[in-house]
Amino acid sequence: MFEFSCPVCGMPLKRDSGSLRCPDGHCFDISKYGYVNLLRSNQSSQKRHGDDRLMVRSRSDFLEKGYYMPLLDCLCEKVSAFVSDGDAVLDAGCGECWYTANIFRSLKQKGINADFAAADISKDALRIGARREKGIACAVAGVNCLPVADSYCAAVLNIFAPCAGEEFYRILREGGCLIRAVPLKRHLMGLKESVYEHAYENEPENPEISGFEISDITNVTYTLSLDNAQDIEALFKMTPYYYKTSREGQQRLAALSRLETEAEFGVITYRKCAKYVE
Ligand SMILES: C[S@@+](CC[C@H](N)C(=O)[O-])C[C@H]1O[C@@H](n2cnc3c(N)ncnc32)[C@H](O)[C@@H]1O
Ligand SMILES: [Zn+2]
Repeated sequence: MFEFSCPVCGMPLKRDSGSLRCPDGHCFDISKYGYVNLLRSNQSSQKRHGDDRLMVRSRSDFLEKGYYMPLLDCLCEKVSAFVSDGDAVLDAGCGECWYTANIFRSLKQKGINADFAAADISKDALRIGARREKGIACAVAGVNCLPVADSYCAAVLNIFAPCAGEEFYRILREGGCLIRAVPLKRHLMGLKESVYEHAYENEPENPEISGFEISDITNVTYTLSLDNAQDIEALFKMTPYYYKTSREGQQRLAALSRLETEAEFGVITYRKCAKYVE
């Protein structure tokens, strides 16, 4: 099983009935949902932590319908090329663990039993995530301060979530891999055009990360066809656009019963370099 480290003293946390406990006696209860809260109050000054209940429910409903299966398939293929039996894998910014659980199961089907963990700053996300797959250790934690020992992981996954290159470098072993999924320029353009008078493309992200070399970039692009208002609404509500849209825009969206839109993802695979260079 994946072993988290104590966020207070850094020592390993071991299971002690309904809690995780370190040799120094710091103790963290496992919630009834199955996750453990390892976020220290001094690690985040924000009142609201990560995605809220509406976003996580919408995303979970949408992903369950299988609309992002081509991306999931690509991620499973990339992860299985790097991960072996007994390796530690962390999904940093895991949301409701839809990708985490499916990647974990796909590896299992290939006979690879890796030790998986998932971390997210949102308790709402982990309330759903921790129940999805019992074999995955789930913790509330921020990507910039992960409760994981130095060089512990063979792989880190970072799917549409904030990227903390320096922290990922710290927890990855030598030669370990980081696999990220990011939206490309025209991802969900059709959705934006249906809602906004002036729809803008996404800002392309610079894929370079200090301390890592890019070993592969694979683009996954296809047309997403939605034929019911419920799924269109779920897609919209799982994005940050929902909070930035005028009432008119929301009404335009509510009137849609069909939508064709671009799904455009970049899957970037990195290798940890021997030396961290800024
Ligand atoms: C767009 S969602 C992606 C979730 C999941 N990886 C997926 O693709 O289904 C971004 C996630 O990052 C989480 N998040 C935001 N800031 C974070 C931080 N500083 N540390 C950890 N997670 C964070 C949010 O709570 C949310 O679950
Ligand atoms: Zn401790």
